[in-house]
Amino acid sequence: MLPDMSQVQTEDSLTPGLRLKMPPLQLPVHYLAFIALSLALVIYQLWTRRKTSIADLPGPKPQSFLFGSVCEHQHDEVGAAELKWRAQYGDVYRVKGVLGTNRLFVSDPKAIRHIHHSGYIIRKQPFRNELSRLLVGAGLGTVDGENHRRHRRINSPAFGTNHARSYIPIVSSYATLSKVWQQKLKAEDSIVVDTPQYFSKFMLDVIGEVAFDYRFGASDGDAAGFSAALSSILPQIHAVPSDMQLFVFGLMEILPAKLVQLYMRHAPTAGLRNSRRVHNIISNVARRLVTEKAADLAAGKAKRDILSLLVKANASETPRTSLSEHEMLSQMHTIMQAGHETTANTLSWTIFELSQRQDVQNKLRAEIYEMERVMRARGQTEYTWTEFDAMPYTIAVMKETLRYHPVAFNNAREAVCDQVLPLSKPIVTKSGEMLTELPIAKDQIVVVSVAAYNRNEDVFGSDASVFNPERWLDGTVRTDVQLGPYANLMTFGSGHRACIGYRFA
Ligand code: HEM
Ligand SMILES: *[C@@H]1O[C@H](CO)[C@@H](O)[C@H](O)[C@H]1NC(C)=O
Repeated sequence: MLPDMSQVQTEDSLTPGLRLKMPPLQLPVHYLAFIALSLALVIYQLWTRRKTSIADLPGPKPQSFLFGSVCEHQHDEVGAAELKWRAQYGDVYRVKGVLGTNRLFVSDPKAIRHIHHSGYIIRKQPFRNELSRLLVGAGLGTVDGENHRRHRRINSPAFGTNHARSYIPIVSSYATLSKVWQQKLKAEDSIVVDTPQYFSKFMLDVIGEVAFDYRFGASDGDAAGFSAALSSILPQIHAVPSDMQLFVFGLMEILPAKLVQLYMRHAPTAGLRNSRRVHNIISNVARRLVTEKAADLAAGKAKRDILSLLVKANASETPRTSLSEHEMLSQMHTIMQAGHETTANTLSWTIFELSQRQDVQNKLRAEIYEMERVMRARGQTEYTWTEFDAMPYTIAVMKETLRYHPVAFNNAREAVCDQVLPLSKPIVTKSGEMLTELPIAKDQIVVVSVAAYNRNEDVFGSDASVFNPERWLDGTVRTDVQLGPYANLMTFGSGHRACIGYRFA
């Protein structure tokens, strides 16, 4: 998923050992001026905003009018507040944002279908795009409407099934962590391994080679300073934000995007400065690579990394439908940001669950050893897709980790126009009215609760709240929901903005 600094504590932050403390916030004058101006605008907006049916939905009691429930939401364990709220209020409920605003939280499959599959009538919140753009520019994940359609068309060929499978040997060539750890274990009886850090470097190297045919060398020494630069922005993206920061994010949510944009582009805070610095480091390499790929293509010796495929797809478009150089660079930033820590954190969670469950570990190991025995017998040394596809328990463990630990534990949207959300089950409002569908007004903020949907008993079985890979093998999981690109999970989002890299992941 994309770095989204509003969701700061998000998701991935809870990788064991990855809970960072935010550096103390300085509040210079411009910051205060921004807040004052914003307050005036917000009060005006709230004044003129229509009352909606959302206000009458049940939901948690806010901490205060000023903060709503945003602190409880962000300061709890990852996704925990949403799981708790769902248990209390069901699949559709209201949560107070800052200054009395209402946010709609949804884990009802039919409602999610509408939200993610109705084209651009519910969009990503413009202010979140602004935040993400600081790091990535105008890439696939941060553009909307027609621009998004254009980006998506040019990107799609590079992310297809066959390409993803052809990268298996590259990924395998970097998968030497177990050897490193074994080596360490020879010297000592027991070792403590910082798995998130290993996986982060591993994934940076893999993305570099697969996406750009470029060697970052993160696993052995970080020559170009890439992983250092990238990890310097992790606290900004993943750390637990202070109350004050949450308040400012809450304001941005309701302010005109143009104002947020101005602030983001020019505010001299240390965090924003560092974002621009990291952006420049990556851009310098990216610019050189784009030029090289274009030359390779012209000389008829194009490779099969994602960037080469993008340059090729772009070359077959008319100037009006193609990507500019800035957009192409942005797309490289996007892939780095969207594909790196997401995948690394999912790996960390897998190891975490295995460490808790000796029984799962034994079964998984047995299946892997058996497959390697078969492969040895036919003189094969490298895995291909065919072998993975014939390892049902391994796949079940992977699906279960993706279900149980979605690194993007929610994704937020806002309604572009008035519309009606269909519901799988009727809901009852506070005033006792039964609703079989829910009208929402223009500008309504809608949060798809991925964590809660992924533990929906109707979809994943009555024991959905425990980690149990068997559910994928014994027919417990419903297969007719048709949500999400993979295994009916919401982990990769759904619809026209679903994760384009899920096969790769
Ligand atoms: C386990 C790993 C991953 C997870 C859980 C994940 C999750 C997601 C989610 C939830 C979204 C949609 C966000 C929204 O709807 O607001 C998304 C979008 C995206 N992902 Fe991933 N992702 C993963 C790996 C990757 C990889 C490896 C790549 C690229 C190589 C990638 C590239 C993207 C891009 C470009 C988008 C934006 C798509 C669009 O807006 O059209 N992701 N991802
Ligand atoms: C994409 O193609 C157009 C021509 O259709 C070209 O002007 C543009 O420079 C190309 N972009 C990149 C990054 O190569």
